Amino acid sequence: MSLTKKINRSKLMSTETLHHASYLAIAKTRAKALKAFSLVMPIPRPMLFVGETACDELCDMLINEGATKVFIVTDAVLNKLGVPAKVTDYLEKNNISYHIFEGITPDPTFTVVEEGLQQSIDAGCDAVIAIGGGSVIDAAKMMAMAQGNNCQPKQLIGLFKAKKSSLPLYCVPTTAGTGSEATLGAVVSNDRTHQKELSIDPKMVPLAAAIDPTIMQGMPAHITADTGVDVLTHALEAWMSANANAETDYYAASAAKTVMQYLPRAYADGSDLKAREEMGVAAHYGGIAFNKAGLGYVHAIAHQLGAYYGIAHGRANAIVLPYILDLNREASEKRLAKLAKKINLVDRNQVNSSDGELADYLIAKVRELLETVGIDPVVKGMQQSDFEAIAKAAAKEVSDTYAVPTYMPASGIKDILMRIKTASDERPNDSSATKAV
Ligand SMILES: [Fe+2]
Repeated sequence: MSLTKKINRSKLMSTETLHHASYLAIAKTRAKALKAFSLVMPIPRPMLFVGETACDELCDMLINEGATKVFIVTDAVLNKLGVPAKVTDYLEKNNISYHIFEGITPDPTFTVVEEGLQQSIDAGCDAVIAIGGGSVIDAAKMMAMAQGNNCQPKQLIGLFKAKKSSLPLYCVPTTAGTGSEATLGAVVSNDRTHQKELSIDPKMVPLAAAIDPTIMQGMPAHITADTGVDVLTHALEAWMSANANAETDYYAASAAKTVMQYLPRAYADGSDLKAREEMGVAAHYGGIAFNKAGLGYVHAIAHQLGAYYGIAHGRANAIVLPYILDLNREASEKRLAKLAKKINLVDRNQVNSSDGELADYLIAKVRELLETVGIDPVVKGMQQSDFEAIAKAAAKEVSDTYAVPTYMPASGIKDILMRIKTASDERPNDSSATKAV
């Protein structure tokens, strides 16, 4: 290498080191503020109904709360399959009228949310039931909150923008993934840029959720895998977060344990109702865990992969997760070892293992699970020219929102992106990642 190149390279490195030092200082200050805030901010919990009669119980609660006309938010596929009937039949039996909005698309935009809001207002609805996956529930949260506050959904983007309560909101998740029915946030996509915009407010937490395994049994295997790994990622990122506490640890460990045990069953046999129910509850627990502990680089990078390349959220998490476990391996060694023991991954032969060995074992088990549920680590269409912007946006999401155990400079994120691209390019042509659902 010539002297000029060496000098230029060392200049670049020192500039990046300086940028990283200031990024680190800002990120750590924000993380401390988030922790202080999470300790004093009460986050409501939805009433949880579980089992084959969960929808009836949810409707009973809604009726007892005085709802007269219900706005049902779903998507066209679920509506065509007749999934909302489990709720609407019960409402009809009890003489409660309803209006169905089936216009939710994957990664719904403001236009979609505004259209639903207008229909709910025009129909005179006074309660909302969301029946669907994360996209449906997030859109319903925004509609219910906007109607309750007599404002436009865009005005709710950011932290604690709502002045009044949301319309009473009830959720029937049809996938076991986002845990959105338990969380205080909702994501809406910008119509033009497709970047995701976030609204966070404790008033957004739904009043109740029904986890009905019979509704989830029709979920295809690849969606079961993607959404199930999303649950595991919520649990692991919440567990490794610097803002984790005893309460979030309980829910994160419960969710992780359940996914390791039941996701292979739900993936292998969709009609295994016990596995479906356990995964539904795990998704809910994952949501409770990250409500306070937050997430990390896996989600920050996965959100960008979704925005740029249209890859499904859970699949993007599954692809990024092993890289971030490796990144955090040293800083989170003790925590990962503790989790391995807590979720019963460790057998009698490993009682004398070091924390390092147990952390490695946990990471190996996660990799094994990803393979068992058929995660193909491919992102189609990755362009190196996008990596600068992706790294910048992911780093911003981390510093704005999360308290991660290990911070990395932008070059570290770009390095991970390059490794994902290389691995994707090396896969045979017929291998494909699932598109967003
Ligand atoms: Fe997620």
